[in-house]
Amino acid sequence: MDVLQAILTRRSIRRFTGQPVSEGDLETLLRAASQAPSAHNRQPWHFIVVRDKKSLESIAEFHPYAKMLPRAGCGIVVCGDSVLQKCTGFLVADCSAAIQNILLAAHGIGLGAVWCGLYPREGLTRPISELFGLPENIIPVGVVAVGHGDEQKDPADRYDKSKIHTERW
Ligand SMILES: Cc1cc2nc3c(=O)[nH]c(=O)nc-3n(C[C@H](O)[C@H](O)[C@H](O)COP(=O)(O)O)c2cc1C
Repeated sequence: MDVLQAILTRRSIRRFTGQPVSEGDLETLLRAASQAPSAHNRQPWHFIVVRDKKSLESIAEFHPYAKMLPRAGCGIVVCGDSVLQKCTGFLVADCSAAIQNILLAAHGIGLGAVWCGLYPREGLTRPISELFGLPENIIPVGVVAVGHGDEQKDPADRYDKSKIHTERW
């Protein structure tokens, strides 16, 4: 799929068939994530691939907006290393760029995905850190539910001319 077509037609997919995501597809997504831009090119991201149903169910128990995770083929927890990227704002931006790459790549290869936010909600980051044994310096930014979609969504045109400012506000 052409990159612009992927950007313009991507939607959050929250219904999944339950069919597993292949190792090859998963590597494609993680390679796409790793190509994201990052401040000072620090590449502070780490990815935890979660296929274990019990772990996915555990996340769905405490995350009110991640109930779809157990039905997804897998979850990818995207974390940032705060030693590598000391400015938290940049760390979050870097990991967010990686997450967006995962969403677009998933859509491009015919998978469905949805970004479930974690940082800065302590009620979400703390249980994730405990569940996956994250070191102190590792901040979980988001978890992406990825799988074979069981819903189709029309593209949403959000281009709003009133938000475009030319030369100055
Ligand atoms: C930082 C962030 C956190 C989000 N968290 C959740 C979430 O916890 N659960 C969820 O179902 N969707 C979540 N989303 C997805 C948004 O709800 C979705 O992108 C938005 O409604 C626009 O719909 P679309 O992705 O289909 O274009 C999140 C998106 C972002 C950028």
